Amino acid sequence: MALRVKFKIFFSCIFLMFCFIIYRSFTDKFYQFYIVTPRIEQLLIENTNSLNDLKEIIVSKIFPRNFSEYFLTVYESQSVNTLATNNYIASKVESLESIEKKEKNVLSHITFDGVKKQNVSYTILFLISSHTRHANRRNIIRRTWGNPLSWVETNWKVVFLLGYEENIQLMENAKQEATQNEDIVIEDIRENFYDLAKKVIIGLTWAKKYIKFKNILKGDDDTFMNIDNIIKFVTKNHILEGYFGQKMEKQPVERNGRYKVTVEEHKTNYYDPYCSGGGFILTNYSVYKILANIDITNTLRIDDAHVGEVAFKAGIIAKSIEGFFMWNDWCEYKKGIMVSHPSNEECISFLLKRSLIDNGKHQRNAVLESQKFYKAKKLK
Ligand SMILES: *[C@@H]1O[C@H](CO)[C@@H](O)[C@H](O)[C@H]1NC(C)=O
Ligand SMILES: *[C@@H]1O[C@H](CO)[C@@H](O)[C@H](O)[C@H]1NC(C)=O
Ligand SMILES: *[C@@H]1O[C@H](CO)[C@@H](O)[C@H](O)[C@H]1NC(C)=O
Repeated sequence: MALRVKFKIFFSCIFLMFCFIIYRSFTDKFYQFYIVTPRIEQLLIENTNSLNDLKEIIVSKIFPRNFSEYFLTVYESQSVNTLATNNYIASKVESLESIEKKEKNVLSHITFDGVKKQNVSYTILFLISSHTRHANRRNIIRRTWGNPLSWVETNWKVVFLLGYEENIQLMENAKQEATQNEDIVIEDIRENFYDLAKKVIIGLTWAKKYIKFKNILKGDDDTFMNIDNIIKFVTKNHILEGYFGQKMEKQPVERNGRYKVTVEEHKTNYYDPYCSGGGFILTNYSVYKILANIDITNTLRIDDAHVGEVAFKAGIIAKSIEGFFMWNDWCEYKKGIMVSHPSNEECISFLLKRSLIDNGKHQRNAVLESQKFYKAKKLK
């Protein structure tokens, strides 16, 4: 009798193992399933740049039943790796209290806010990550592309995001600069390449809390911006959850060197699509959605890739647009230019003059217009 029971248990175990193997082979085969809401699918369609993504995604009817009528099941063909994340999730829904608590925590990193608040809704807010030591770069920006007198458009604002260094004099100078220019937010985040993502998250949270804006352009302090062209673009844009710039696709995660990211920090070998960090635009809807899904205690070292990953998981698709020149090392002027990186003072001044001629704010100048580069010298 006891033997029969043992046999029963034995065969049950064999049967269960068999079921498990069948189950694993099924899930292994279809492990790359993505859940895409119809809205996200529409975004993919709206983004002409994502046509490649679309081609590579097969809307699948393999899955036997609908999870919910609001969800579509999308199957990524095995040969491609466009969507690098294999746990694509719909945007997190959080309670109002938990969002407020999270925001309060993030905002507690701000040690000095020198920005004058005005009761206007800016068409675009420029959030510029700047090293505390780079007062000269900020002054160049204030004199050139950040000077309201340079442009036709007026409904925009530049704010610099500064971090922290253990140098009392330096921090005092930064505060003074902030009071004088009313355009600086100082954070207690160390001035360190690997903490740039935190700097940006705090900046976005600050903007959400204190500023009304339709778009944000996150940039670095060594860029040139053609504000008139940027505003022309954003006012024409109809994508609510926009994320624009120079799109990076299938970027391999570097495991060595300056951009080193360990397997513990990032499992997959590719980043989700993101826009290069020298300058990218987010609409206000995208900012709110990214902030709802971001966690300042768990950031990636690479700030632009981090924003891209969170955006992607929230269903916001990076899109390349013309006019963003992120490796313009020879400082070439191109018509329709919006953002150029890298730029030093001479480069900025050259691109600004050329821009103003094309925008009709400066007189035509044959000599200058025949010049394509500010100098026959590589910037970086
Ligand atoms: C799944 O949902 C979609 C959208 O509501 C519907 O068109 C489709 O017929 C459903 N499929 C099945 C098998 O119920
Ligand atoms: C801000 O401006 C809007 C209209 O432009 C006005 O309705 C509102 O009362 C103003 N708020 C403050 C605090 O002044
Ligand atoms: C977000 O931007 C849209 C225009 O693009 C504007 O109508 C809306 O009021 C903005 N929302 C907030 C909260 O500023």
